[in-house]
Amino acid sequence: MSFIKKITRRSFIKKAILTIVSLELVYVFINLLKKGETKNKPNLYAAGEVELFEKGQLYPFSTERFYLYRLKDGGFLALSTTCTHLGCTVQYKSKENKFLCPCHASAFDKTGNVLAPPATRALDILPITIDNGVIMVDISNPVKRAKHNSSQITYA
Ligand code: FES
Repeated sequence: MSFIKKITRRSFIKKAILTIVSLELVYVFINLLKKGETKNKPNLYAAGEVELFEKGQLYPFSTERFYLYRLKDGGFLALSTTCTHLGCTVQYKSKENKFLCPCHASAFDKTGNVLAPPATRALDILPITIDNGVIMVDISNPVKRAKHNSSQITYA
């Protein structure tokens, strides 16, 4: 009789330990997910007034590590210069009309879409807000994306 009680107690303790370990793992996993979602404090860079930028043109901001692209329809994209393969700095080559990475030859079009591997996803974009006609680019919070789409464009 006491043997049965022991087994029951052991079983209870095992289940209790498993439950505690499982809850710990869930807690750790949730915290890892939250950490991935954490945004940095915005660091807004004033790129200039909307009228300064011609439609269809690309403007480098080398120190801040982005290009500001004003699309032909007047919208804006701020493209990170960090290659999405392994992080080298891409440069826009006007003769070839594309961004090229010097490290492993990935290429991207003006909207950041991949033209040539090994990169597999588009260049990150930096969030843009327009404050009293001035384009403000958040250089601390690049946004990852698989491909370019029109919802990523900011209009004045
Ligand atoms: S880091 Fe750009 S292609 Fe590898």
